[in-house]
Amino acid sequence: MGRRVRVAVLISGGGSNLQALIDATAAPDSAARIVLVVSNRADAFGLERAARAGIPSRVIDHRMFPDRATFDAALGAALREVGTELVCLAGFLRILTTDFVESWRDRMLNIHPSLLPAFRGLDTHARALAAGARVHGCTVHLVRPELDTGPILVQGVVPVQGDDTAERLAARVLEVEHRCYPRALELVASGRTETLGETVQVRDPRPGERLVLHPLLRE
Ligand code: GRF
Repeated sequence: MGRRVRVAVLISGGGSNLQALIDATAAPDSAARIVLVVSNRADAFGLERAARAGIPSRVIDHRMFPDRATFDAALGAALREVGTELVCLAGFLRILTTDFVESWRDRMLNIHPSLLPAFRGLDTHARALAAGARVHGCTVHLVRPELDTGPILVQGVVPVQGDDTAERLAARVLEVEHRCYPRALELVASGRTETLGETVQVRDPRPGERLVLHPLLRE
């Protein structure tokens, strides 16, 4: 087994996506290992998940900093201290400065609960329903300074049902998120991705490896 890429996961809340990444990177053949979890909130349940998995964590409370730049500087220092090579945003509810984002260009991933470029921003499930969308889903992408933009790695498609509420739809999307994020991380950590303009190309795809999860496609 080769050296594993050192990953930090940034959270603000429940951390169910963090859990999916913890579980996936526990596999002996994973190209990644999580070396740090950072939360900007001390009460984030994800911190408990990190502790249970024996992964070090830090709380960096944004309210202790005068502005975004000093918060991001502290965050960057914490990441560098443990030799972070890739950053995964997983329900991290802070806007990051352009300087910080650029310092992790092509090395920072985010998961967003919509099929980007549709429905950037908040309340994606309610907005998809209000728009009458027939399909919805999630996107794992490389992070660029503009919110919820950047080269797409993996998407998961969830059909909208006639009687859906935002909550029901969100729950089905979240399940798919948990399958998409580990896949995207493995792709990047295994060094098989290359960004060409605003798209990601994958070299040496593995047999059966898909960049889209869809209910009509067999795994
Ligand atoms: C997920 O829906 C994710 O797409 C969004 O925030 C939510 C985080 O959930 N960015 P969790 O903390 O991973 O459970």
